[in-house]
Amino acid sequence: MKNITVLGAGTMGLGIARLLASHGMEVNLYDPAIRTTEAANSLQTGYPLLEVSFTLGQAVAAAELIIEAVPEQLELKRTLFRELEALIQTQAIVASNTSSFTLHELSANLSFSDRMIITHFFNPPEVIPLVELVGSPSTSPHVLDQVASVLRVCGKVPVMLNKDVPGFIANRLQAALMREAIHLVESGVADVEQVDTVVREGLGLRWAFKGPFEIADLGGLDIWAKVTGHLFPELSGSSTAPESILDKVAHGELGTKTGRGFYEYNETSQTTSPMSENINQLVAYKKAKEAQEH
Ligand SMILES: NC(=O)c1ccc[n+]([C@@H]2O[C@H](COP(=O)([O-])OP(=O)(O)OC[C@H]3O[C@@H](n4cnc5c(N)ncnc54)[C@H](O)[C@@H]3O)[C@@H](O)[C@H]2O)c1
Repeated sequence: MKNITVLGAGTMGLGIARLLASHGMEVNLYDPAIRTTEAANSLQTGYPLLEVSFTLGQAVAAAELIIEAVPEQLELKRTLFRELEALIQTQAIVASNTSSFTLHELSANLSFSDRMIITHFFNPPEVIPLVELVGSPSTSPHVLDQVASVLRVCGKVPVMLNKDVPGFIANRLQAALMREAIHLVESGVADVEQVDTVVREGLGLRWAFKGPFEIADLGGLDIWAKVTGHLFPELSGSSTAPESILDKVAHGELGTKTGRGFYEYNETSQTTSPMSENINQLVAYKKAKEAQEH
């Protein structure tokens, strides 16, 4: 599979398109917001295998795989998929980069629903190896295998889920951690700097090399039986969005993009590139270490 179309050239779509194009795939990118040749050229420069198309039909006509990365609005995505029904090849695979919708919600009643999957990349997609893959009971395993192969060629680590659930694995884990982080701050146990320091200097360092179950085995399951038994009743069980986040959003404090969120930002700190550089170095270190061990 070489011919891939990415729909949406925002934060994720552009990154995914550039990732694929820099690993030998012929990539077509479509976004109705790109209207001029100058705008298209600026996205293509440095990526000879990346081409921007100005119509949806032209973008998907030859595609073997179509990756949708348009805004997280169900009706917008569904309208786009319905348009694709008349435009794509009969064998083309359609993947959505949704962060929160289930495949069932996205693919209901579409003619290509048995060739539809979720490919959940992480931001920045050129840098983070993980891609979560979700199929439905009617998805042919061949479809998931083909997409997983393409992702491996691009240096990604695909993880296929056994079930189609909102938030997949990573976003559910991240939300569970955020619920408790916010609870600690809202109940005055610690401030945001203290919580961030604990994760950066402790938990996060281990998580780059070991998952929670590996860490539990290292600690001893007898200890974990006691710790979870004592602590679970103490933890937040909230099922609503946290007040302290809702309050900030109401005041236009959205994080780096508005210059203020939990912290204050100046213009130069508003990009993800320093973090990308650090993650790139960590990923390179992990790969070298794995190669040594095998
Ligand atoms: N940003 C993240 O960290 C992140 C991480 C994982 C998954 N996602 C998911 O990826 C998807 C895209 O998110 P994003 O952050 O890149 O959004 P974004 O707003 O940065 O980009 C979306 C792009 O889609 C374009 N678009 C709108 N309608 C379109 C259409 N009909 N056809 C083609 N393009 C269209 C917009 O012009 C825009 O450029 C969402 O489903 C989001 O939930 C985002």
